[in-house]
Amino acid sequence: MTKVLEGRVALITGSGNGIGRATALRMASMGAIVGVNDLKLEFVEKVVAEIERLGGRAVAVTQNVSTRDGMRNAVLGFAKQQGRFDILVNNAAWVRYQSVPDIAPETIERMLDIGFKAVIWGIQAAAEVMDAERGGAIVNVASVAGLVSAKNSIVYSGIKAGVMGITRAAAAELGARKIRVNAVAPSAVPTEGTVRNRNAELDARRIARTPLGRLGTVDDIAKAICFLAGDEAGFVTAQIMAVDGGITVTNI
Ligand SMILES: NC(=O)c1ccc[n+]([C@@H]2O[C@H](COP(=O)([O-])OP(=O)(O)OC[C@H]3O[C@@H](n4cnc5c(N)ncnc54)[C@H](O)[C@@H]3O)[C@@H](O)[C@H]2O)c1
Repeated sequence: MTKVLEGRVALITGSGNGIGRATALRMASMGAIVGVNDLKLEFVEKVVAEIERLGGRAVAVTQNVSTRDGMRNAVLGFAKQQGRFDILVNNAAWVRYQSVPDIAPETIERMLDIGFKAVIWGIQAAAEVMDAERGGAIVNVASVAGLVSAKNSIVYSGIKAGVMGITRAAAAELGARKIRVNAVAPSAVPTEGTVRNRNAELDARRIARTPLGRLGTVDDIAKAICFLAGDEAGFVTAQIMAVDGGITVTNI
């Protein structure tokens, strides 16, 4: 693979698994030095070892990034260690789907902390350490749930729609500093995080409504994130890229 991210320092939150892991592997194969961050340390170690085995460069960044301090320690510490900071992918999430009467304060708080507030703290910390001349790229992982509605998704949809607003506002403010801010909005992608909410019947209905006739894969999403993070997207900012096989804006 062309090393279009050669030497870039990239932190990916929640990259011990799922979409984040696929993005970490891909960015490393494109030449980036990847900060692998996750709550689950055994996952972090595994991904770092996997990247190194493939000839890439990776560092374990083990902070819990759901607080401002945790996020700052992760971003500023990794930047200091590497002597630069180029890319942040705000990917980590903790998700529960609850119907209206079941929504509980603890669920909202936990989902907001990592899914919404941490995105803002990540942008703040990344902007602090990105080089004034080179700028940088931030990619937030939103969801089609922020664009279209589904049952039991009030908190999740609200947060992901919020991430889209954060993305546009951050892009407006940080563009003058050559910092591009974009988001991807994946449709359903089989991962450990979604296993609890998927079943064969629901998947079949989704596939039937998807013009490209399949569910997404973690690599589909990783490719879009890597594109937005790299120089080939050098004039792309404030965009929400749906990576969804066309399901969001069609009615088949
Ligand atoms: N999989 C899908 O269908 C889908 C669809 C649309 C959007 N998304 C979004 O993609 C992102 C990744 O989803 P996934 O399905 O790969 O999830 P996943 O659950 O497989 O992986 C998320 C990782 O984030 C880590 N994490 C959670 N809280 C953390 C914290 N405080 N600090 C550090 N790490 C933390 C988890 O340990 C986990 O390894 C999320 O933002 C999710 O909302 C996923």
